[in-house]
Amino acid sequence: MNFWANKNISLIVSGGIAAYRACDLIRIFRKDGAKVSVVTTKSALEFVTELSFQALSGEHVNSDLFSPIQADGMDHIHQTKTSDLMVIAPATANLIAKMAMGLADDLATATILAYDGPKLVAPAMNSRMWLNPATQRNVAQLKQDGVQFIDPQSGSLACGEDGEGRLAPIEHIVEAAQSALSKKILAGHRILITAGPTHEALDPVRYISNHSSGKMGLSICRAALYAGAEVVLIHGPINLEPPPGAELHPVTSAQEMYDQSMAAWEAGCSGAILTAAVGDFRPVQQKSDKIKKNSDSDKLTMELTVNPDILATLAAKKSGGVVVGFAAETGKSLERGREKMARKNCDLLVINDLMEPGSGFATDTNRVTLLHNSGKEEPWPLLSKDKVAEKLIQTIATLLNGVKQNG
Ligand code: CTP
Repeated sequence: MNFWANKNISLIVSGGIAAYRACDLIRIFRKDGAKVSVVTTKSALEFVTELSFQALSGEHVNSDLFSPIQADGMDHIHQTKTSDLMVIAPATANLIAKMAMGLADDLATATILAYDGPKLVAPAMNSRMWLNPATQRNVAQLKQDGVQFIDPQSGSLACGEDGEGRLAPIEHIVEAAQSALSKKILAGHRILITAGPTHEALDPVRYISNHSSGKMGLSICRAALYAGAEVVLIHGPINLEPPPGAELHPVTSAQEMYDQSMAAWEAGCSGAILTAAVGDFRPVQQKSDKIKKNSDSDKLTMELTVNPDILATLAAKKSGGVVVGFAAETGKSLERGREKMARKNCDLLVINDLMEPGSGFATDTNRVTLLHNSGKEEPWPLLSKDKVAEKLIQTIATLLNGVKQNG
């Protein structure tokens, strides 16, 4: 089932220019199946109409504590009883100050005060307002009270100034919301993830690589973060933005990925999920000058050597923890996967056949079979890469229960 199905989000919108971006937030939550109940401050409606919020949320939108539309005048209490999460976005300096003081002088603040579930605040304001000691004091107080913040970003602001105060990207707010609602089944675990391709340089301008996009690795990184793990992400050259919260180690070559992975593992990790499409070979000699065509020959011969195998090395040296490999095959995938599992001796191997419809490097879906070292084989149906990641993280969390940490 989709993560957001049957989830109730209470969205509080306050009056800043970024109020229009709350529309996107409603759209994304609803697209994924959540119910969104919107309460706005009066000033939010100076920027976006009630009708827009209503059309997008499909629900009646409230801003008035004394509205006669309410059956019994207790909407701020009823709504808080059914919400799984309260998201306050954008949050102005004024709303944050009222929250810190526990004021309840309108429907938005009364609803916030009456809610005792998890709260996520995404501030947006002028940078001097954000950096003002009064605002920072209020933010610190709310954090101490257990309220989670998605800090604003730096950039050009609506007032024409440059600085810190822009509402965080909507995807980051959605990710933080999913994280807030996820069970912390990997809390206390540090997980190493490799992702993307590697580039094996031939000369200063050319390299050997593959079509890996890094998508599967980033989905796993996100799922591990949602599950409360500390994540060390060692990734090759990719065009996708890694999720916020992971410790990032960008690398280029297989050797660099190997060195960084060994260092991270030695520093103490309880799991390694190696999704990277590591280059198997590199030139024995990398040319320091660009290789030129030779007018006497239409051939180029180059000697290649095998790169070190991160998965096999980690699986061999581990004294605890769970090591997971991925095998992207192009036919006879189960047979080749079993052979790979035996050769690399990891705890789990996720096999996918690149030739199968819906599976492959740049797709959003994957049909995989999960092999356990015990010989158990689990064919999973065609799923989104996010869902594959979520299921894999659940399996790893189950295995880690009772398995001692490496290092
Ligand atoms: N892997 C690794 N280091 C390498 C090569 C592969 O850690 N130098 C890992 C991958 O990240 C993946 C698994 O091993 O988790 C299987 O990768 P794959 O390329 O399928 O395995 P190979 O041993 O290279 O086998 P093949 O001959 O099929 O390419």
